[in-house]
Amino acid sequence: MLPLIILPPLKIGAKKTLKNILHQITLVILMQDIEALKKEAGIKACEYVQNGMKVGLGTGSTVKYTIIELARRIIEEGLEITGVPTSLATKELAESLGISLIELDQTNGLDIVIDGADEFDPSFQLIKGGGAALLREKIVAQASNKMVVVADDRKQVTTLGQFPLPIEINLFCAGTTVKQIEKLLNCDVKIRKQDGKELKTDNGNLIADAFTGPKIADPVSIETDILKIAGVVQVGLFNNMCDVVIVAGKNGVEVLEKQ
Ligand code: 5RP
Repeated sequence: MLPLIILPPLKIGAKKTLKNILHQITLVILMQDIEALKKEAGIKACEYVQNGMKVGLGTGSTVKYTIIELARRIIEEGLEITGVPTSLATKELAESLGISLIELDQTNGLDIVIDGADEFDPSFQLIKGGGAALLREKIVAQASNKMVVVADDRKQVTTLGQFPLPIEINLFCAGTTVKQIEKLLNCDVKIRKQDGKELKTDNGNLIADAFTGPKIADPVSIETDILKIAGVVQVGLFNNMCDVVIVAGKNGVEVLEKQ
């Protein structure tokens, strides 16, 4: 069955060509397809969660489906878990769904974290931070025995960097920090904005996005070099952390386990 498509009203007299309208329809269908893939990957990841586990709850539009499915299992199947959110947005979502939460400091580490990613390469090195939550996400991932990433197949790349690399930086002399990152990476770096204002992270910092292009062949050394810059709080390269990627594409969901 064809999906129901609601288009914005066309202004009378506007030069809308048939080509424009078809383009809009294609975009809407594509977005619906991508949402379906995110949901498939998000739900599949819940198979890794068992009774009694302490679970890191990631941030983003894909892992949202994991969190919703976990809440369903809690209500309908009596699943007992405790969650640690990686952002204020995830905390709010989990609380609204009735998932019991705990502070990471009150644990001796987590069994698993499930999170999204902006890119993953063949070695499961990740770019994260598209949702500006990279610092908390990295703290939670480092405290977890296993990291499962949920993604659609647009995120699968040969070499990291097509997605601008998010770097959380301190407010103090942020312009200087940006220049130092530009010099190091030899690329444009822009402070991320939201609604015309500089975006502030949950930690009160800024996000600098580095437009490297798909050239991050050695993410481990790049992470080390970026972290040497004093104004850098954390970088969205998650190296040697991810154990499993659950990737949804046109041909279904694939579970990729690190060898
Ligand atoms: C937030 C993140 C997200 O996990 C990442 O941006 C992927 O998000 P989405 O599933 O919405 O594409 O790193 O900081």
